Amino acid sequence: MQQILGTGLSGLVGSKFLELSKEKFECKNLDLTMGVDILNEKQVMQAVEASNADTIIHMAAFTDVTKAFEETGNKDGVTYRVNVLGTRNIVKAAKAFDKYLVHISTAYVFDGNKESPYIETDERHPIEWYGQTKAWAEEEVEQGNGRFSVLRIDRPYRLDTFSKLDLLHKVMEKLKTNSLPPQFSDTSWTPTSIETFSQWLMQIVQGKPQGIFHTTTEQLFSDYTFALWVKEQYKLDGEVKEGSLTEYLQTNNRPYQRNTALDTQKIRTWLLSMTE
Ligand SMILES: NC(=O)c1ccc[n+]([C@@H]2O[C@H](COP(=O)([O-])OP(=O)(O)OC[C@H]3O[C@@H](n4cnc5c(N)ncnc54)[C@H](OP(=O)(O)O)[C@@H]3O)[C@@H](O)[C@H]2O)c1
Repeated sequence: MQQILGTGLSGLVGSKFLELSKEKFECKNLDLTMGVDILNEKQVMQAVEASNADTIIHMAAFTDVTKAFEETGNKDGVTYRVNVLGTRNIVKAAKAFDKYLVHISTAYVFDGNKESPYIETDERHPIEWYGQTKAWAEEEVEQGNGRFSVLRIDRPYRLDTFSKLDLLHKVMEKLKTNSLPPQFSDTSWTPTSIETFSQWLMQIVQGKPQGIFHTTTEQLFSDYTFALWVKEQYKLDGEVKEGSLTEYLQTNNRPYQRNTALDTQKIRTWLLSMTE
């Protein structure tokens, strides 16, 4: 069986990938239980050198956007250290031992001001600390000069319930108790089905394309239309009220990306080429 090294495979996205890929890949997660702290360059180097895997899937990140915001500008904080320095160590090890690196990133590398879905060549321009650290992480990957793909996702959700609730399950819970706050109708985004993403990731690990790819679904939602969709899909009684991000931002200084929709044409073309 093909061997894979991973980081963050115990998280929301990674644990589903592990489950769905277990017939195909033997995945080893580099974490503290394996004696590897991704912030420790020596430990990462030793673990990667000792492995026969030809690919590293790097999902580990500090993903709490609100806590990250509280660390804005702090390069000693956990957000910067995990997302940037952790990635730097993984990039160095992948390059040193010639492993193909799959780095998972986010639509929050963009500012959200574009009027249409972002394409891979659009310039990174983050507006909050989590997005900033993930943008720097992408630069680490690109400047590492190795074999890599950067897969950008947005609002990942899975069908089963995970310990960290995804957006789908957060909306479901609130609808069940009829306590969903007004949902912005002036936002635009493309969610990521973790099940579909995992299938694509299996193909990416095998085909090893080079560069940045947007790997969300194609369907555009606003917070409001997504909540309506969840209500209908799961036949829930709770009310979905319409809200406005523009109005919300007049009372709140926190940066908020209005548009994080990603154009997925590039990955779809590549996936199609793999089946020909
Ligand atoms: N969730 C989202 O809304 C979202 C949106 C866009 C992109 N992404 C990206 O998708 C990827 C996966 O996200 P996720 O939501 O699945 O993450 P998650 O559920 O928050 O899990 C984070 C993972 O990173 C690991 N990790 C954190 N700090 C670490 C460290 N210092 N050393 C080693 N491992 C560490 C955690 O391991 P432990 O459990 O052992 O701490 C966990 O497995 C991330 O790169 C994230 O930036 C997520």
